[in-house]
Amino acid sequence: MSKKIKLNDKNFKLYLSADEIQRKVKEIAAQINIDYKDKVPTILIVLKGALIFASDLIRNLQIRCKIEVISAKSYGESMESSGMVKLKYLENNFKYNDIIIVEDIVDSGLTIKTLIEELEKYSPNTIEVASILSKPEARTVDVNTRYIGFEIPKLFVVGYGLDYSELGRELKDIYILDE
Ligand code: IMP
Ligand code: MG
Repeated sequence: MSKKIKLNDKNFKLYLSADEIQRKVKEIAAQINIDYKDKVPTILIVLKGALIFASDLIRNLQIRCKIEVISAKSYGESMESSGMVKLKYLENNFKYNDIIIVEDIVDSGLTIKTLIEELEKYSPNTIEVASILSKPEARTVDVNTRYIGFEIPKLFVVGYGLDYSELGRELKDIYILDE
């Protein structure tokens, strides 16, 4: 199996294998099972990137939970965050809920910050963040991220839900830009 791929004009090489990712997902789920033992959290999936991680995570939960989705967009077709976050809201009432926002990656932190500010209008009980990836060096705003799978350098990645210009989301492994 080739561990180098090309999407449009860019080359990528293997960075995190499907096995490593699945082990990490199980660890995060185990922690959530403990932390939310007596609660019924609302898993809020940030589309489209977090779709794959969220579905693996949810299937490793042993507690009851509710599922909601929201669509957020900041990258467009480029490899850089646009600095503007577009949230597409579905009609939800998050009052009193314990929300776990599930993200693919926390980069500048802007998406999460915007989303949390929006959710706070509904006065939920608690809001936490679970993301399979985080780029701490890319942060421009401060956000509290409780469950992080892997901290990675400030390089562009694809796979496991993350895309380059809408391509590569279906890949089971995570690939990094091969410059
Ligand atoms: P933030 O608002 O800058 O934290 O960006 C978050 C969003 O940008 C993520 O949910 C991703 O959809 C996208 N993003 C950030 N870094 C990458 C990357 O390396 N590859 C693909 N998408 C990314
Ligand atoms: Mg995303």
